[in-house]
Amino acid sequence: MSPRFSCRLAKLLGITPIPPDFLDKRLIFVTGKGGVGKTTVAVALGLRAAEEGKRTIVCEVSSQENASRFFEHTEVGFHEVEMEENLWSISIDPDESMREYVLLQLKVRAMRDLLFRSRIFNYLAAATPGLKELVTIGKIWELAQLDRKVKSGRKYDLVIVDAPATGHGIGFLQTPRTFAAIARVGPIHSQAQQLNRLIVDHEHTGTAIVALPEEMPVNESAALESELRSEVGVAVDRVYMNGLYPERFSAEEAARLGELAGGENGAVRAAARAAVSEHGRARSQRAQLARLRRRVEAPVKTLPFLFEPELDVEAARRLARRLG
Ligand SMILES: Nc1ncnc2c1ncn2[C@@H]1O[C@H](COP(=O)(O)OP(=O)(O)OP(=O)(O)O)[C@@H](O)[C@H]1O
Ligand SMILES: [Mg+2]
Repeated sequence: MSPRFSCRLAKLLGITPIPPDFLDKRLIFVTGKGGVGKTTVAVALGLRAAEEGKRTIVCEVSSQENASRFFEHTEVGFHEVEMEENLWSISIDPDESMREYVLLQLKVRAMRDLLFRSRIFNYLAAATPGLKELVTIGKIWELAQLDRKVKSGRKYDLVIVDAPATGHGIGFLQTPRTFAAIARVGPIHSQAQQLNRLIVDHEHTGTAIVALPEEMPVNESAALESELRSEVGVAVDRVYMNGLYPERFSAEEAARLGELAGGENGAVRAAARAAVSEHGRARSQRAQLARLRRRVEAPVKTLPFLFEPELDVEAARRLARRLG
């Protein structure tokens, strides 16, 4: 029985449907505000899936190279580069995606040459807002196909996208629908529709929102989930509360530390004050975690704050073990 059918059946019978395992999807967008840990979570998810034996590719967009840095790899560019067993990385450059798209579409060589020479794409991209996002999603779609259009392309079990920060709303994931609406008929319309069908396909495509344990980021993550569900129509499978401080002290210990923080001994006082401050932060983070759990529908999973100057691949592996 397909997971979708069993979900429907469960709904009809009034049973809470059990979603298919998150990492069994084919395409996952990791999204959230700027600087919350999207790249870190995308890499950790990639490591986890690869460890489970899934052939996985982590995609960065807008020619970013932050994921490859975890592996201390030189820039990967618009190439599918192997990082570890079962794990590849690519940085999607919209111009290259557009070029590849045209090469795949246009069979007449003279026409292709003419188009490239005339720099028509630069003009088109400048004149058409969202075109770069559209061709980027087109490349993501291509990577997720079992029957790859690119001849040398590998088959992946899972494509993880380190999506752009949601500073400008949910625009990126909405691009195909917008284009399908603007171009009412013709190839752009049908191809944009095809991309949108993949995005809203809950069986194969999902999103993970990364959040931070602070008041505004919690509000923003809740708003983002609701927009992703209602306006884009994509499945939201996880919300990762990233960077949670450990709760090191019980209430009695904290009270004792409070006494020491007001004490006479300078060194003890300084250490106790630092501990009290961290304890306060950990507690307020727990309050934000509880708020997030109340405000979102998706399961909330937590990731610890790692006290390291720079997160490397081993740090990402530690987070990968904690991913639910
Ligand atoms: N769990 C964590 N513990 C400690 N540091 C973390 C953790 N997660 C992320 N960081 C650090 O926070 C910073 C931002 O993380 P990251 O680059 O993954 O965020 P991002 O959402 O991808 O940012 P951007 O929007 O700029 O792409 C990095 O320096 C990263 O090492
Ligand atoms: Mg990033």
